[in-house]
Amino acid sequence: MPSLAVDDAVPDPALVVLVGPSGSGKSTWAVEGYRSQEIVSSDTLRGLVGSGSADLDATDDAFDLLERIVAARLGRGLTTVVDTLGTDQARRLRWRDLARQAGLPTAVVVLSTPVEECRRRNAARERPVPASVLTQQHARHRDVASRLPTEGWDVVLEVGAPVTPQAAEQRPEVERTERRSSQGLRIVLQLSRFPWGEEPAAWLRDVTLAADAAGLAGVALMDHLIQIPQVDRAWAPIPEPWVTLGLLAGLDTRLDLGTLVTPATFRPPGITAKAAATLSALSGGRAFVGVGAGWWEREHLGHGLPFPSAQERLDQLERGIETMRALWAAGTKAHSGPRLELPETTSYPRPVGEIPIIVGGSGRRSLRIAATLGDAANVPSTLPRLGEHLETLRSHNADVVVTVLDLPTIGRDRDDTWSRVERLRGRSQAAAFAARTNAGTPAQQRDRYGALADRGVDTVFVALADLEGPDDLERLEPLAR
Ligand code: CTP
Ligand code: MG
Repeated sequence: MPSLAVDDAVPDPALVVLVGPSGSGKSTWAVEGYRSQEIVSSDTLRGLVGSGSADLDATDDAFDLLERIVAARLGRGLTTVVDTLGTDQARRLRWRDLARQAGLPTAVVVLSTPVEECRRRNAARERPVPASVLTQQHARHRDVASRLPTEGWDVVLEVGAPVTPQAAEQRPEVERTERRSSQGLRIVLQLSRFPWGEEPAAWLRDVTLAADAAGLAGVALMDHLIQIPQVDRAWAPIPEPWVTLGLLAGLDTRLDLGTLVTPATFRPPGITAKAAATLSALSGGRAFVGVGAGWWEREHLGHGLPFPSAQERLDQLERGIETMRALWAAGTKAHSGPRLELPETTSYPRPVGEIPIIVGGSGRRSLRIAATLGDAANVPSTLPRLGEHLETLRSHNADVVVTVLDLPTIGRDRDDTWSRVERLRGRSQAAAFAARTNAGTPAQQRDRYGALADRGVDTVFVALADLEGPDDLERLEPLAR
């Protein structure tokens, strides 16, 4: 018998299941290659038992009939082209099994027509599908399409321009112009306190826009469940960082956005991977993730989270990094790594470009993890310990990227510096506090930053203990230039 099938890749006779959103061209593809009796279409059946092909009230009756017709045809070994959206896996597998029983080969034909094209065709239709429904169909379609290759079909044929996952993996790398100071440093504001009064969102927006205007390279949010005593009182607000970063991503800035640092104990790493990939997608590739082992028992217990031993927390940190990297990597294949197995790594949206992982902590094992598994390490800027940390890090990886967390007291001039010291020192002696926080003017901070750059530091995360609002970013501007 001469083959009628439109595509030689599809056997004939066969069960052919179409999969594609509305307007992707399923029915068109089917009628080009098959006789009308061979095509079992849910739309046509709706038209037979309902008021028309778009009569959704007739869906149940139409599908009852569809199942009976498909079963009857397959039982006779007849070619059957099933024209529905194709997203119902239980139905798909039932048809596939019926075909197998009848000795018929099985094929799915996937119509991954780009969403814009489907929208255009849809708009030209007499009864267009609502836009939101179409959006849902495409999201669902991508999910279904990625699963078909492992579903046990004899042939999986993709027709039309493929959308994700292939298209996503071929996307061009985004240009990311890095902001560096004339000393060669990236200066990133670490937000640790949030004196936002009555208007949290407005305060966050103003501070972030001021950081961008001051030429900083990014904004990092501290991740704690209770404000830590080193920064403020326990009842001071400390927002969930990923939600907050979503707000900041909506602002028109060039700032990199991320956490410094997120404890591995707070969220399962797959969830952090999802949050960071979403942030990357929403911000056009500006996301980074700072991670650490977590250290503060109180915030864990107070939020119903386990606080295991340091060893287990560091194990979690290692597994977390492996999990995030596996989920961000191209493709959806199973992951089998030194620390974990994942049956698949399907996670969309994909990050835009790479998401750097910065590992915070200065214990020996944290440093090793940072140097061997991280994209960068984050250690305190304080001397002379910094020298030791650099040595340890470089003993594991000579090319490790080093970032520091710097907590300076910066005054506009000498007078202003000392009045800030007096305000901030608490029960510490003024001179000791000034020395510990490198109290000084922006010019003095710049000299110190020059020394950090000379030691090979790449990025300075700088937090101000007296940050009140956007005006305070002026004190950082000379460091960012
Ligand atoms: N079309 C087109 N070029 C193609 C395929 C289809 O211009 N290569 C047009 C068809 O003429 C039709 C519209 O796009 O006007 C939708 O195609 P259709 O095959 O009806 O799409 P289906 O996937 O069957 O959509 P539905 O699920 O809504 O039945
Ligand atoms: Mg159709």
